[in-house]
Amino acid sequence: MTRIRPFRDTDCDRLVEILELNGQYEYLDIEGPDAMRRVASCDAAVFLVAESGGVVQGFVRGVYDGARAMIHLMSIDSKAQLKGIGAELLKAIEAEFRRRGSPGVLVTVSETSVEFWKKQGFEVLPVQLMLKPSI
Ligand SMILES: CC(C)(COP(=O)(O)OP(=O)(O)OC[C@H]1O[C@@H](n2cnc3c(N)ncnc32)[C@H](O)[C@@H]1OP(=O)(O)O)[C@@H](O)C(=O)NCCC(=O)NCCS
Repeated sequence: MTRIRPFRDTDCDRLVEILELNGQYEYLDIEGPDAMRRVASCDAAVFLVAESGGVVQGFVRGVYDGARAMIHLMSIDSKAQLKGIGAELLKAIEAEFRRRGSPGVLVTVSETSVEFWKKQGFEVLPVQLMLKPSI
């Protein structure tokens, strides 16, 4: 059975391990333990973790700025994928965004996960994501 709960400080090492296994751990200043703790203490952020059998299997994090909700990152342990955990985490973060007043939700996705998001009701938008690496 999967239990969804808010992120805790003690989850950091396990979440780093999951990100590394999925090849999503490139930017330490954004994905690393310090960033995780900053996200968890940010009022606009929602940061949820999924546990099964007492082991953390994945997480999702995003923000609601008062107008739009956006999911920035989701990652499920490669050994726990395709068991419904991603869909459950998504339901949980959507419920929290809805509770805060958001009518819908955006997501930044990798090419390999597009079909997962489509199955969850997301549509591809004609927009591009751009980055200015330092400000
Ligand atoms: C993409 C990801 C979050 C999906 O989580 P998951 O727990 O494996 O997905 P679920 O088991 O909840 O799948 C729900 C449905 O989507 C499908 N699905 C999941 N991943 C898929 C993929 N990559 N391509 C196509 N379909 C996929 C499942 O088959 C399932 O379909 P069904 O409802 O018809 O049975 C997870 O595989 C993952 O962490 N991947 C690596 C990192 C990544 O790409 N993250 C997302 C970008 S931020």
